[in-house]
Amino acid sequence: MIVGVPREIKPGEQRVALTPAGVRALSEAGHRVLIEGEAGAGSGIRDEEYAKAGASVCLADQIWAGAELVLKVKEPLPPEYPKLRPRQILFTYLHLAPAPGLTRVLKEASMIAIAYETVQRADGSLPLLTPMSEVAGRLAVQEGAFYLGTAHGGRGILLSGVPGVPPGNVVILGAGTVGLNAAKVAVGLGADVSILDVSVDRLRYVDDLFRGRVVTLVSNSFNIAQVVQRADLLIGAVLIAGARAPVLVTQAMVEDMKEGAVVVDVAVDQGGCVATIRPTTLLEPIYRVSGVVHYGVANLPALVPRTSTFALTNATLPYAVELATKGAVTAVRENPALAKGVNVWGGKIVHPGVAESLGEAPTPLEACLN
Ligand SMILES: NC(=O)c1ccc[n+]([C@@H]2O[C@H](COP(=O)([O-])OP(=O)(O)OC[C@H]3O[C@@H](n4cnc5c(N)ncnc54)[C@H](O)[C@@H]3O)[C@@H](O)[C@H]2O)c1
Repeated sequence: MIVGVPREIKPGEQRVALTPAGVRALSEAGHRVLIEGEAGAGSGIRDEEYAKAGASVCLADQIWAGAELVLKVKEPLPPEYPKLRPRQILFTYLHLAPAPGLTRVLKEASMIAIAYETVQRADGSLPLLTPMSEVAGRLAVQEGAFYLGTAHGGRGILLSGVPGVPPGNVVILGAGTVGLNAAKVAVGLGADVSILDVSVDRLRYVDDLFRGRVVTLVSNSFNIAQVVQRADLLIGAVLIAGARAPVLVTQAMVEDMKEGAVVVDVAVDQGGCVATIRPTTLLEPIYRVSGVVHYGVANLPALVPRTSTFALTNATLPYAVELATKGAVTAVRENPALAKGVNVWGGKIVHPGVAESLGEAPTPLEACLN
């Protein structure tokens, strides 16, 4: 198959959908890889590195015109719409449910659009979202520690403490992928860490993993009100799949927090779990409410595009190789996780959530494959 990787054109997006290792793997499997010049620049990967691994470096138009499988990071933008071709496979983050306009474009283009975020294993896990949650969770503590510095608006706390001075207190709401990764970094720094979740089984797992080094608490409004008062750094990491994040920290609780404490609400992309949080950007990441620093960056992985590119492509590459080698029909027939990723197939909307957003009934995937 001819596999194409255009440069991302979404403002601020520095990631790229394939690394030189991915080019090598696809070439070894007998495929031809076309990559747009400078596609890896934002992630510190030079065109020569791709060429050395076996890719042909070319222009965006050549990629869209020639590739049977297009690998991207973000959804296509209007300048790319006229380049989409029937039966072309597009494998990328799409987030179509809130974007009916883009869904119509993909449908009318008669593409096969497979979304990273809906690829789902039998146990319910989302293997192509996990790596970005790992990045965001770890980064949340690093960013929080930075903003606790007085010069950056915070309380002037070193999370590790020093001999004779206690460490800072970190409270993490939600013990999923983001929460667990935040806990790892906070513990690594030597902070005093508490983590809350509604799932006691999850807390049991956290307790085993950290051998008692992290305080686990059941998440309810009583416990939250207590821990939030003590927090130097509060991290929001809850998720109810497919729903708005529950607001667990009320405005009154924020008013009770210490002056100069920092809130990093990673769940801001789902509306946030702190009442006073709103989305911010990497250019202006923080604002203050009641003396508390609020950090609401909705795309944390963009701060570390190199790490994020390698983390994302480690997860996507096996699926990309499968699609290229078997073709879309056989690949989705043989891999149910990949089948869940299919959003649009040749003019039909397959994913139930996406179809609902257009007020249509979804077409069963099987009907598209025959
Ligand atoms: N801002 C960013 O850049 C960024 C990046 C990646 C992920 N995220 C977001 O971070 C959030 C967490 O993602 P994740 O991958 O860790 O999800 P996850 O499903 O792995 O974990 C969510 C956890 O929240 C827990 N939870 C649900 N309701 C709760 C409650 N009332 N109190 C306490 N815990 C509760 C669940 O039991 C689960 O353990 C999501 O909103 C995700 O979209 C944001």
